[in-house]
Amino acid sequence: MKEKLEDLNKKIELAKLGGGQERIDKQHAKGKLTARERVHYLLDEASFEEIGMLVTHRTKDFGMDKQVFYGDGVVTGYGTVDGRLIYVFAQDFTVFGGSLSETHAEKICKVMDLAMQNGAPLIGLNDSGGARIQEGVRSLGGYADIFYKNVMASGVIPQISAIMGPCAGGAVYSPAITDFTIMVEGTSYMFVTGPNVVKTVTNEDVSSEELGGASAHSTKSGVTHLTAANDTACMDKIKRLLSYMPQNCEERVPHLDYTLGDEIREELNNIVPESSNQPYDIRDIVDGIADKESFLEIHKDYAENIVVGFCRLAGRSIGVVANQPLSLAGCLDVNSSKKAARFVRFCDCFNIPLLVLVDVPGFLPGTDQEWNGIIVNGAKLLYALSEATVPRISLITRKAYGGAYDVMNSKHIGADMNFAFPSAEIAVMGAKGASEIIFRRDIKEADDPVAKLKEKEEEYARLFANPYSATERGFVDEVIEPKYARRKLIKAFAMLENKVASIPKKKHGNIPL
Ligand code: HXC
Repeated sequence: MKEKLEDLNKKIELAKLGGGQERIDKQHAKGKLTARERVHYLLDEASFEEIGMLVTHRTKDFGMDKQVFYGDGVVTGYGTVDGRLIYVFAQDFTVFGGSLSETHAEKICKVMDLAMQNGAPLIGLNDSGGARIQEGVRSLGGYADIFYKNVMASGVIPQISAIMGPCAGGAVYSPAITDFTIMVEGTSYMFVTGPNVVKTVTNEDVSSEELGGASAHSTKSGVTHLTAANDTACMDKIKRLLSYMPQNCEERVPHLDYTLGDEIREELNNIVPESSNQPYDIRDIVDGIADKESFLEIHKDYAENIVVGFCRLAGRSIGVVANQPLSLAGCLDVNSSKKAARFVRFCDCFNIPLLVLVDVPGFLPGTDQEWNGIIVNGAKLLYALSEATVPRISLITRKAYGGAYDVMNSKHIGADMNFAFPSAEIAVMGAKGASEIIFRRDIKEADDPVAKLKEKEEEYARLFANPYSATERGFVDEVIEPKYARRKLIKAFAMLENKVASIPKKKHGNIPL
């Protein structure tokens, strides 16, 4: 027995060394942790249980039978984060550059199956040179197995992908299917084809960082939802993100202990400016309403004209979607509609109630928007909100104009409660534009057309630039003083806690993708 134990311990030691100390040192020199270090940092202390530590690849070609590493380039298993079960895989760049072989893929698929069957989130820590070149189609098949399971798990358990090194070729599609992607700044990149292929095909000179670094994907493409300065910051963000989510689609949303006492927030009375054209930061309203420091913004630097993220209201997780008057005056455009629609669908999958803050002058006009499909993309948000059966509350802080009023969680598309500040203006369009159209003849025939336009604008504003005609019809439930908004929303979400709603029986809807 003693010898057998020694043999086992030797194998375990070898497995822990991955591709060897030299390669581990290289990984550290790049400012990166190893796969095992990442897993241990992510999970609660001593909670990690590894699965398949002694798995090896089965390839004999290209002298691979002489290069065998226990674990085959991926550490897989389960453990807890803040006491809650999660499944994890972490690609080990020290073994064949973390490249994906048939057995490497089988290990990942195993934890994916377990995560789905046991209803717990799956976290993927990606750091890989892509398909294991020596294995040809077997590694491509392995990728496809993972993609398929990602799709099957979508909406069943939360899936989070961290990109902590290279992620190229087909390898980017698994993260793209998962719910959230987070990239480490400076050491990670994602692209379908790298700079060399780009140069050959389009003659463009571009670096890996420019093409697919954290900055490109957090600002230009929107592929990544979050970025982190380094590996540990990345893991900290994953932990925080998990804290807002239930374990699976059948569980209720997390509800932390909360002591009442700070429901009235005077500062909310002073955020929306007197002038309806003056910008303000909608995040000040979110912070004013939410539990202190509970707001986690998602997709912060992408499509900044809409703000999305998670916060807590009296301890309960809430998803927030809010027009941002600081950017494009809060207009809806192609990218903001896509960003918000995707977020709404995540919240609806996982029973996270939605708060929609409305200050929207309309859809952004112009050829750029029309030719890039503002019609079909704006429809995504309309569709996603209409379909969402979670508790949904709107708060109109200022403008709710035109089609955007309908889209931004109006009562007509299923919002449960709709509140407005006294500063709300709910109308087909702004006073100037509306007056120029409906009073065109009066203005044209007036002795002083400028004075006439001003007079008509004021008349229109008196009638429509307020929340009361909508409130009289019940489209708005109540006009509230801003300082009471937090208290009102805490009570309303508590009232909606047991909401049961469903959509008509169907195979699946056909969201305008
Ligand atoms: C096998 C690989 C590998 C791969 C890297 N390695 N990528 N082995 N298959 N795909 C090995 C290297 O040979 C090297 O082994 C070790 O990993 C580290 O690689 P380096 O090149 O030394 O590291 P670095 O300079 O940091 O560069 C990392 C890299 C580069 C940018 C990822 O290795 C690279 O370009 N690799 C190939 C990427 C690629 O084209 N993959 C296929 C994508 S197509 P030693 O023994 O020297 O340490 C794809 C299709 C999927 O993935 C389709 C699914 C639908």
